[in-house]
Amino acid sequence: MVSGRPDIHRFDDRLAAVYGDAGNKERHYDEWASSYDHDLVKDLGYVAHREAADIFMELVADTSSGILDVACGTGLVGRYLREHGYRTLDGADFSARMLHESGKLGIYRALWKHDFTQPASPPDSYDALICVGMFSYSLPGIVHMHHVVNCVRPGGLCVITVNGAAWRDLDLESAVRQESGKHGFAIEQTRTAGYIVKEDIDSRVLVIRR
Ligand SMILES: C[S@@+](CC[C@H](N)C(=O)[O-])C[C@H]1O[C@@H](n2cnc3c(N)ncnc32)[C@H](O)[C@@H]1O
Repeated sequence: MVSGRPDIHRFDDRLAAVYGDAGNKERHYDEWASSYDHDLVKDLGYVAHREAADIFMELVADTSSGILDVACGTGLVGRYLREHGYRTLDGADFSARMLHESGKLGIYRALWKHDFTQPASPPDSYDALICVGMFSYSLPGIVHMHHVVNCVRPGGLCVITVNGAAWRDLDLESAVRQESGKHGFAIEQTRTAGYIVKEDIDSRVLVIRR
């Protein structure tokens, strides 16, 4: 583990704002919602949604599965899954403006507002979920990952990304191992995938079975 506080200011200011300030993160995402797709995908080369969804589709072949898109943001993941035939998609996020953006796409059956630092009471028990971009430097932490995992039915599959720079800087691998032991979920795979190309940040994609 790297000692001291990681230097998040080595990243683009728009990323540093959400990596560094857990207290105002919801507000940051609210303010970012309308320009998020342009800033992240076009400016910074965000590929996390596609690469994680490709892994998800490899593992969840049944396109009629009930799927939750955790931290759905503007709906980049859901849109990609929908383009590939998945049709029972719900989304959750703590940012009202992000939910407003994803709602405009008309692809989600339901969208619900939730802060995953807290236990969730989902409206459905999902077969599988995908969570892209929520676990990085600040909250929610790996200690909150079971709040996400518990949204699938027992035996359900979760594909969850963790920012690869934070993974290294904060030694998150041992934190994930600890949480899996504590909460009884199984880490079936840990893969490396693309995340934000122009910032040279990769991701770990955790494949978890509840
Ligand atoms: C980097 S964006 C990723 C959005 C989308 N999954 C994507 O790939 O484009 C992170 C998302 O996580 C949401 N988020 C961050 N912290 C959260 C929390 N504690 N509870 C719920 N959502 C959260 C933000 O509002 C934002 O929409």
